[in-house]
Amino acid sequence: MSKSTETGLAELQDLEPSLEEFRASVVEGLSGPEKTLPCKFLYDRHGSRLFDDICNLPEYYPTRTERQILERYAHDIADIVGSKARLVEFGSGAGIKIRLLLKALDRPAAYLPVDISREHLVAASADLAKMFSDLCIAPVCADYTAPFALPELSGVTWDATAGFFPGSTIGNFTRAEAVGFLTGTRALLGSGAVMIVGVDLVKDVDVLRAAYDDGAGVTANFNLNLLRRINRELGGTFELGRFHHEARWNAKLERIEMHLVSLCEQEVIVGTKRFGFSEGEAIHTENSHKYSVEGFRALARDAGWEPLEVWMDERKLFSVHALRTS
Ligand code: AVJ
Repeated sequence: MSKSTETGLAELQDLEPSLEEFRASVVEGLSGPEKTLPCKFLYDRHGSRLFDDICNLPEYYPTRTERQILERYAHDIADIVGSKARLVEFGSGAGIKIRLLLKALDRPAAYLPVDISREHLVAASADLAKMFSDLCIAPVCADYTAPFALPELSGVTWDATAGFFPGSTIGNFTRAEAVGFLTGTRALLGSGAVMIVGVDLVKDVDVLRAAYDDGAGVTANFNLNLLRRINRELGGTFELGRFHHEARWNAKLERIEMHLVSLCEQEVIVGTKRFGFSEGEAIHTENSHKYSVEGFRALARDAGWEPLEVWMDERKLFSVHALRTS
């Protein structure tokens, strides 16, 4: 087998959702009796930047806690992943966490960051290419909640494949959606693959609520930015001052829900369509499900993954799971 490796930055595979897809989702989401908008559209250029700010907030413990876990157990994770691995990251964002893994891995062969935010992806890939000159980096701009194909890597060979899904982004999915996603990644990554997944844990409700409704109002701004994006890209007439950000704990479904609540009775136009809001009516914009260790392991098994290992911080705020295809 040839062991030649083409290193450096490959051309972007661009499957960014179209404006038409955004329009159709918004119209559909605002037309039903319970208004919703898909959270993936929170991440335009401005939204991605606001999310990076959220990650540095004192109240938002997940990012820094996960980083500590990854730093502390990087070598255990690297042992499970194996040498000369091809790594696929779902929702790579600013590309900070992967550096911890790449540094610990034995001769990683290729890194395929997948993200819905194209500009963020291109910038992060270029940064990483400077730091890891021996690595093939093949960015994919795609909505990974729908099936997509991985790019061919010409001249690159690998001995293992791993998926990396940090940040508890899996919490955006309902349990059924998460099983569907993990089942799909099993097919995408192939048999023998390993999956490293960051999962936020169930905890004190006040800690959770504060993480999604911070004192500086960054999360509120992140949520409201979705309306700003609709105004700009779809010709919407949302007045941001007439909506209020709310983070609610849904105890039954064990999730934080982000809502945009209308402060008055009002009508909003998006393109050619009109949408009425009563006072107090909410648009549900995001779910962030929280799990117990056993709860997540059971979910992974339902998707055909075998739980191998779990690492946590001392306060058991956050967990990182290693799974293998069974
Ligand atoms: C990127 C989905 C992991 O749910 O914690 C943070 C998104 N929303 N604050 C999360 C988010 C509001 C975040 N994920």
